[in-house]
Amino acid sequence: MPNVKSKHFPSFKAELPSMSGKTVVITGTTSGTGRAAANALADLGAKVLLLNRASDRSDSSFAELSAEYPSADLHQIECDLQSFASVSAAAALVAELCPEGVHVLCNNAGVMALGDTATVDGFDIQMQTNHLSHFLLTKELMPLLQSAAASSGEARVVNHSSVARMAPSKTLRADHLEKNGGQLGGDGSKLQNMMFNGPRWIRYNQSKLANAAFTAALHNRLQGSGSAVKALVAHPGLSNTHLQKTSVKEGGMGSFFTDQFMRFSQSPEDGAMGILSCMCLPEAQSGQFYGPGSGAIAFRGQAKPFALEDFYDNAETHELLWSKSEEAIGSSFTI
Ligand SMILES: NC(=O)c1ccc[n+]([C@@H]2O[C@H](COP(=O)([O-])OP(=O)(O)OC[C@H]3O[C@@H](n4cnc5c(N)ncnc54)[C@H](OP(=O)(O)O)[C@@H]3O)[C@@H](O)[C@H]2O)c1
Repeated sequence: MPNVKSKHFPSFKAELPSMSGKTVVITGTTSGTGRAAANALADLGAKVLLLNRASDRSDSSFAELSAEYPSADLHQIECDLQSFASVSAAAALVAELCPEGVHVLCNNAGVMALGDTATVDGFDIQMQTNHLSHFLLTKELMPLLQSAAASSGEARVVNHSSVARMAPSKTLRADHLEKNGGQLGGDGSKLQNMMFNGPRWIRYNQSKLANAAFTAALHNRLQGSGSAVKALVAHPGLSNTHLQKTSVKEGGMGSFFTDQFMRFSQSPEDGAMGILSCMCLPEAQSGQFYGPGSGAIAFRGQAKPFALEDFYDNAETHELLWSKSEEAIGSSFTI
């Protein structure tokens, strides 16, 4: 894949406020946007809890980050988003390590265009990794977010969606949120995967639509209860990360077309500007979406705020997302 240089990140980063005194939990920091955000947060003085599944990538990225920011308050926590038990164990550890509460939870980790596989809990691997486990993590950390909001005036939940939220479908489907892992359309043909369409991409679309719908429903509930916790969502445009490499390796994308397509991409740091805006900017409001534009080809550029979109920000989708996600995690999530 082409080596893409950061265009906007240095000047963007220079304008970010200090995060000293803030505790930030972020998933998926072994590479890509999560790694770029973790670097920035460590540099800005936050206490950062890095939630990753156990791997050499997790150990080596943590060691590199610790070496680069020796005075930073960093914590490595094992969290495999393919397993609800692992997510609950990670949340319990966060509670032990953070009596001060959690000021920011960034649900960043994700996978794309993987095969039609069930997790140990029986859900589609993309839907559980990208949305359902983050729904559970948010539920379990909500008391810590509420307590940080009470003592500091606000706290934030930041989700990471995609331009893929709007295509091929703008309608969230119940069957993708149910225990149908391995039965959601199969792996698609070589041609479909080369052209970024077919069932793997429908499952990715549904999971990224769920990230946006979760933000909208959470924002609605938090505002309705008078909470000072904000719900925001970002997308990174098209960012040159490990995401595409994994998809190519797993058969979800052809390497030739991916190489051509990635010529339109931006660096991981430029891709991280959306989540960092949501996490750090004082002016970022609950119910805002940050990314390089709201359109289907918003691939590159400065992260700007825009409004949540009607195709998921409506009462019917809020209710579907919430009730099916509660059913999946096996407990209610009441704000
Ligand atoms: N790159 C883009 O163009 C693009 C576009 C739209 C949206 N996004 C979104 O941006 C987010 C970050 O992705 P990225 O592009 O930065 O890709 P990336 O470099 O592949 O990073 C993804 C992160 O998620 C982690 N992850 C995957 N499965 C996990 C699991 N079961 N448990 C815990 N962590 C897991 C990965 O860790 P491992 O090392 O363990 O795999 C990695 O740290 C994702 O939500 C993605 O959907 C990216």
